Amino acid sequence: MPMKRFHNRAKIVQVEDVARDTVRLCLQVAEIADQVEPGQFVMLGPLAPDSHDPFLNRPFSVHACHDDIIELLIGVVGRGSRMLSEFVPGQDLYVLGPLGSGFQVPAGAKHMVLVGGGLGIAPLFYLAQHCSRLAAKTVLLYGAGNSEQLLSTVTLTDLGVELALATDDGSAGHHGHAGDLLLNWIAAQPEARGRDTYLATCGPEKMMAAVAAIGREHDFQVEVSLEARMACGVGACLGCTAFDVQGKAVRVCHEGPVFPAGEVFGP
Ligand SMILES: Cc1cc2nc3c(=O)[nH]c(=O)nc-3n(C[C@H](O)[C@H](O)[C@H](O)COP(=O)(O)OP(=O)(O)OC[C@H]3O[C@@H](n4cnc5c(N)ncnc54)[C@H](O)[C@@H]3O)c2cc1C
Ligand code: FES
Repeated sequence: MPMKRFHNRAKIVQVEDVARDTVRLCLQVAEIADQVEPGQFVMLGPLAPDSHDPFLNRPFSVHACHDDIIELLIGVVGRGSRMLSEFVPGQDLYVLGPLGSGFQVPAGAKHMVLVGGGLGIAPLFYLAQHCSRLAAKTVLLYGAGNSEQLLSTVTLTDLGVELALATDDGSAGHHGHAGDLLLNWIAAQPEARGRDTYLATCGPEKMMAAVAAIGREHDFQVEVSLEARMACGVGACLGCTAFDVQGKAVRVCHEGPVFPAGEVFGP
């Protein structure tokens, strides 16, 4: 059955600082919570319906989902995200979703390896929730600039998945990048080779390219979640076109944001 898309007024039920310049926003919106899949996103806005400033709605991945609640992780980087971080519980917010195509976790994969950098952790957290309900072993490899930018590890270990952390400055976990964590994990898991291992990554493009290259070398099944500036979020404006596949323009909001790594970084 095709997935329905809703444009709703959602009730904000919680706004919480979870790391430096990062807020978790919890929205009560049963129609979306009922059907959103890991990797899908929502468009938030208009953020100021009276002034329409900012004019464009803003895309955010679903970070977690339970009952009639969706959780979003908002990195405060500009005007829209700052406004979102200043909302308070009890206020309403317009939300359109669920949107896009999420992660396609292969049936029968024995190892699920999720590699997130910075705010790229947002959709991977929901994916980890999902994978931890499947029988497969799930590991979350998570890197950030420093310890203040890392999400609370309590929230992460609540997932019940194996977790390894890295920071660029060595203030928490491994001193280095999430890609290093992947190499360490592979070295410690000689049995995890080939198509039985599913690798999903989200974060800075350079990191995803490095992770995809490692995955390709070991013949893992790899998916990447892309970001692009978006206007409509529903495939209509072509504003988020990222690359061509066999001469056909691919829209991040519609065909993605999750793609097989080979389509993005080459086979
Ligand atoms: C599918 C999708 C899912 C996303 N999920 C999340 C998420 O879970 N959490 C999160 O914090 N952010 C997420 N983003 C990015 C988020 O949409 C932008 O950070 C946000 O729209 C910025 O709005 P702003 O008004 O605060 O910033 P602006 O004032 O519009 O811009 C501030 C700075 O951020 C840069 N920027 C803005 N939008 C993007 C973008 N889409 N990609 C790259 N750089 C951008 C601008 O170039 C500028 O340097 C996602 C984006 C996409 C496309
Ligand atoms: S944002 Fe309009 S087509 Fe993707």
